[in-house]
Amino acid sequence: MSQQQLDNVVSPAQSLGALLSDAERCLNAAGIDQPALEAAWLLEHVLQLSPLMQRLNPERRMTNPECDRVRVLVARRANREPLQYLLGTQEFCGRDFRVTPSVLIPRPESELLVEEAIRRCAHNPSPAVVDVGTGSGCLAVSVALALPAVRVAAIDISPDALAVARANMAQHEVESRIECFLGDLLAPLSDEVWAYQADVILSNPPYIADRELPALQPEVRDFEPRLALAGGRDGMDVHRRLLQQAPAFLKPGGVLLMEVGMGQAAAVCLQAEASGWFRTASVLRDQGGIDRVVCFEKKEASAVRPAG
Ligand SMILES: C[S@@+](CC[C@H](N)C(=O)[O-])C[C@H]1O[C@@H](n2cnc3c(N)ncnc32)[C@H](O)[C@@H]1O
Repeated sequence: MSQQQLDNVVSPAQSLGALLSDAERCLNAAGIDQPALEAAWLLEHVLQLSPLMQRLNPERRMTNPECDRVRVLVARRANREPLQYLLGTQEFCGRDFRVTPSVLIPRPESELLVEEAIRRCAHNPSPAVVDVGTGSGCLAVSVALALPAVRVAAIDISPDALAVARANMAQHEVESRIECFLGDLLAPLSDEVWAYQADVILSNPPYIADRELPALQPEVRDFEPRLALAGGRDGMDVHRRLLQQAPAFLKPGGVLLMEVGMGQAAAVCLQAEASGWFRTASVLRDQGGIDRVVCFEKKEASAVRPAG
């Protein structure tokens, strides 16, 4: 028996068209929303062949290793592993970002944070921006690419996330303008360098309430990092802590931008105003009409570190 015949006993090779149909059927049975599209993307990932070229070449014979790689990916996707972790990439602000299971998959609504940070710094010749909970680094990198003179501090408590962020910073050639810090919220920033220096502090913090975690879709609940999701009893633990910490690092008139979950904006605004440090500048809605980003301006007179 030839090696090829032996291989076929273990794992039969198929034509491209047959493999694609099997993949689509398997994903459909697993309840994946767009099975045909996702099957084609998984094949593209393995074969480096666009979905159009796949459709034009249904008779193409696949090698056994190619078939096996596709089947493994399809099985993982059928188990509801996010497509982005399988492909290793996600688009954000029009650019590709590397993603691994150590980081949250960037979401389109978080682009609001980037747009607002850029708007706030547009006429500033040397802006300073802090990204708290940088994850993949998608916010920090997008801000750095839009503002050539910006200095960015990117912080995360997860060393594995920070490694992915660094890879994205290098890929987009902005690593010289972004300093990465490992640690808890703003604690890693030194007072000498950052006290009252930030024009913008932005954050997409974890904001899922504990009781909502079990009901998340399996892709999120079972695969995205818990550290990136769980925001405590009401989902706003990190927002509260950032409201306390940010005044010591913002310039007077500087802004704190935070993404919030559905129904959280009003409560976070109340807390910001009750703190005495901030006024609510705006609440930005996402494409679904949900209040998604709160924007707080530090009051001019409050350049004093709060007690405690
Ligand atoms: C919702 S993800 C946001 C990731 C990325 N900024 C984005 O928008 O896609 C939250 C990130 O905050 C980090 N994080 C959670 N708690 C933190 C803390 N106490 N200090 C610093 N980073 C934290 C997580 O590791 C995670 O990377």
